[in-house]
Amino acid sequence: MASTSTVTTLTIFFFFFFIELTVSQQISTVDSECTGRWIHIRRLPSRFNLDLLSTCNHYPLTDDLCPYLANHGLGPKTHTRTRSWYRTDPLLLELIFHRRILEYPCLTPDPNLASAVYLPYYAGIDSLRYLYGSDVNSSADHGSDLLSFLTQDSPEIWSRRSGHDHFLVMARPAWDFSQPLTVDPPIWGTSFLERPEFFNLTALTLESRFWPWQEQAVPYPTSFHPHSLPFLESWIRRVRRSRRTSLMLFAGGGGTSSTPNIRRSIRLECTNVTETEPETSSEKIKTCDFVDCSNGICEHDPIRFMRPMLQSSFCLQPPGDTPTRKATFDGIIAGCIPVFFEDQTAKMQYGWHLPEEEFSEFSVTIAKEDVVFRGVRIADVLMSIPKEEVARMRERVIEMMPRVMYRRHGASMGLMNKKDAVDIAIDGVLQKISSRG
Ligand SMILES: *[C@@H]1O[C@H](CO)[C@@H](O)[C@H](O)[C@H]1NC(C)=O
Ligand SMILES: *[C@@H]1O[C@H](CO)[C@@H](O)[C@H](O)[C@H]1NC(C)=O
Ligand SMILES: *[C@@H]1O[C@H](CO)[C@@H](O)[C@H](O)[C@H]1NC(C)=O
Repeated sequence: MASTSTVTTLTIFFFFFFIELTVSQQISTVDSECTGRWIHIRRLPSRFNLDLLSTCNHYPLTDDLCPYLANHGLGPKTHTRTRSWYRTDPLLLELIFHRRILEYPCLTPDPNLASAVYLPYYAGIDSLRYLYGSDVNSSADHGSDLLSFLTQDSPEIWSRRSGHDHFLVMARPAWDFSQPLTVDPPIWGTSFLERPEFFNLTALTLESRFWPWQEQAVPYPTSFHPHSLPFLESWIRRVRRSRRTSLMLFAGGGGTSSTPNIRRSIRLECTNVTETEPETSSEKIKTCDFVDCSNGICEHDPIRFMRPMLQSSFCLQPPGDTPTRKATFDGIIAGCIPVFFEDQTAKMQYGWHLPEEEFSEFSVTIAKEDVVFRGVRIADVLMSIPKEEVARMRERVIEMMPRVMYRRHGASMGLMNKKDAVDIAIDGVLQKISSRG
């Protein structure tokens, strides 16, 4: 069913992927820099990764996934002349990460030398057949095939540390993999993370559960993937220069039902001020800007929300179906100070990338109960923050930007010296594994 162009794209993709895979397993830098940091990439049969991409148009998602496989999962460029902006689908972090780890300087082909073993299994993409496809009634099986491979093919690699040194990326919220094994038929999700055999491995997810399990949340990929320092620096200059013509912005959907919830309160507060505000001089600061992203219309279209985010001082980040949102990271890239309504949205999630103890320096937290039930107006809270304090917070947001972005593979040395989301995730994994002795 795949169109000719899709097949061509995939062929090219596979070709380069294999070349790079072969070359990079042999790269190694100065050994001393790699002490305690060696990573072995487990060679998995292609049914665990590349084969899964060939069904990219088989699922009832809002969009066909195939076009977004371009550029090793970064997606197609937003327009032909851009150097840093892509239509990125966050689900493809599994590809993005795989491509990036091939550039990691301390890879070893010898698992015995490695502190960590990376499993290049596209778990989230494989889960689509259980979540939306023909295997919906056998979602407890998710992971069986991987487990039998790990326990039968060179089983000593998996068993030597009972799985403690293994990690993989699962580019969805952990909830999608946490269906208890005993619930039949399943309500939602696969049981991958509920299998006791996988309790010891580390899964990098886009959202983790509230209690410490084997998963650790990493930032959602945004659309910004610069490949050299000048591109990052010129973007930062633009972010600093940008005139912030509205106090706060909400870019998202939901909030249209009549039951009280935070999205509804935001929608009411925003539409109320927008309507009552007289449209006079352009110098006037708008209290609230609202970008309606209902029905997934913003998903692969960063221009819709990035421009408004550049023009707003604060970006509202209410929980939706799940507590986290990609927009948290889009906003940081735009230098828009995040406003959180519960700690599960970011503070309790992204501790490796957004230091928990510094949260109040680059974000505002307003308890959602205060807004929904106690009549607190968000605009009042934000307007009460002094201008100098807002400027300081924005500088801190800008400092966080490199930490949460995924730079493009093959980036220049200058940019590689700044730790990005992948570098920080790898540091975190190595530390987590070594702390387990
Ligand atoms: C899954 O099970 C439900 C209820 O038993 C059934 O109605 C449905 O057709 C099954 N779906 C598939 C894809 O087999
Ligand atoms: C997980 O690790 C512990 C030791 O830390 C070990 O006793 C246990 O058997 C491991 N679980 C599995 C499924 O390998
Ligand atoms: C809308 O604005 C008016 C005037 O500022 C205010 O009295 C009213 O309570 C607001 N309504 C909501 C739902 O916020």
